[in-house]
Amino acid sequence: TVLILDFGSQYSHLITRRVRELGVYCELLPCTQKLADLHFKPKGIILSGSPYSVYDKDAPRVDPAVFDAGVPILGICYGLQEMTTFMGGKVDACDHREYGHAVLSVKKHPQFPFVDKLFAGLNGDNVQVWMSHGDQVSAAAPGFTVIAETRTAPFAAVAHEEKPFFGIQFHPEVTHTVDGQKLLKNFVIDICQCNASWTMEEFVDKEIERIRGVVGPIDHVIGAVSGGVDSTVAARLMHEAIGTRFHAVLVDNGVMRLNECANVKKMLGDKMGINIKVADAADLFLGRLKGVTDPEQKRKIIGNTFINVFEEEGVLIEQELERTQSQGKIKYLLQGTLYPDVIESISFKGPSATIKTHHNVGGLLDDMKLKLIEPLRELFKDEVRALGKILGLDDELVWRHPFPGPGIAIRVLGEVTKEQVEIARLADSIYIEEIKKNGYYRNISQAYAALLPIKAVGVMGDNRTYEQVIALRAVETKDFMTADIFASAEWFVCLKRISSRIINEVKGVNRVVYDISSKPPATIEWE
Ligand code: XMP
Repeated sequence: TVLILDFGSQYSHLITRRVRELGVYCELLPCTQKLADLHFKPKGIILSGSPYSVYDKDAPRVDPAVFDAGVPILGICYGLQEMTTFMGGKVDACDHREYGHAVLSVKKHPQFPFVDKLFAGLNGDNVQVWMSHGDQVSAAAPGFTVIAETRTAPFAAVAHEEKPFFGIQFHPEVTHTVDGQKLLKNFVIDICQCNASWTMEEFVDKEIERIRGVVGPIDHVIGAVSGGVDSTVAARLMHEAIGTRFHAVLVDNGVMRLNECANVKKMLGDKMGINIKVADAADLFLGRLKGVTDPEQKRKIIGNTFINVFEEEGVLIEQELERTQSQGKIKYLLQGTLYPDVIESISFKGPSATIKTHHNVGGLLDDMKLKLIEPLRELFKDEVRALGKILGLDDELVWRHPFPGPGIAIRVLGEVTKEQVEIARLADSIYIEEIKKNGYYRNISQAYAALLPIKAVGVMGDNRTYEQVIALRAVETKDFMTADIFASAEWFVCLKRISSRIINEVKGVNRVVYDISSKPPATIEWE
């Protein structure tokens, strides 16, 4: 395992991704992590970049024990500066912030062959790298030698002459650094001597064993499923591990996509053999949403009602277990938490400001006295997709667009009524059907139809109409934190067709608009 210490750079996740792509397992932890408290012994440590300057009063600092751990260290950007400061060198602000491409020339050190390992196999006089920094090393720490420089950065890369410590000013993890992956491989495989043996197949076997060990031979696990890729993959894994002692619950909140509940039940229950129960609570949810127009209020009502319904289902399953004199009890709650959520909640900066209250089932743990089990907590989204494929999930499911917990309730602006939900649902299903038919589904990260709370004038035949407006959204994004609208000339032609289908087929709609706002300043959902 490689330990990556995160000083808050926007690229920290990427370093983790790149190392795992090399087949080496690694964990990203906050830079404040004490080495003594680690649950594993790292074979190497990478210090990430940071938005801070090392000389800031509140600059994040690494546990000094890192430098005595006896393992190779690679400092990237701030990581280099932190190492330099700690070991007695100097860091200063650059005259100009450097952002963009730079060309490195590498220096050879026949007298210390070890330090040349980092750039081994790279084109020495012309290494294309990506820089993004406002500070730089102005004097290397004692014992360090320069291994590469650029025109403006005389200490673009340094290495210790005796210890396996390396520092680089540029970012090997971004694709603009042409041979970045080669450099990381040199560090992780050759310098740290890690084995490239981490694969998704191995993960599946280990995780199934781990789940069996944790749950034991008689107890049961309950988990909510939504039809999304994360909860489906988690459920499939759990089913693989403990069979029918896993109980999946699908809460029909009345604001799911068209035919969603029936489809999910068919897929998980009939196709995968998972023990699944559908809790039909549509009327309860819609009843509680009556008259509510505030987005946050809607989210809260749906979140709380979800917990009520799920708990009731838990009690029913528990009673059934008693009735059939099962030995075991429900002791665990399955959640499809992913690595980015874990990182977000353990960041040294603390969780970021709440823009929207996301729907989650954390509240269940206290009430139901359950322990949490999270088989995906070490994985990124695309790793979950790869896992889904290994577990035999259909491509259609593996590549499904995300769908928010509060569902169509936050896509029906204004009051959520059954009639409004049906309009939004039908428009959405036509939209998605056309997107798939025209081959756009995989290129778009997320698409949906929202129903606006306004009416517009139109003309149909000889008659004036006065009806509602559907807004179509389609975005491209890697991480859903920022997003661009999906746009191309051919796409707009396709949108024209979709618009006329929606207006013809969905009663109550006479106008369709396309949302051309990026995130930020807009968000992906309308509420
Ligand atoms: P926003 O609207 O914040 O959405 O740009 C970012 C991503 O998160 C999804 N989303 C949610 N997912 N529960 C979820 O599970 C929620 O409450 C929720 N709200 C937004 C949204 O669909 C997009 O993919």
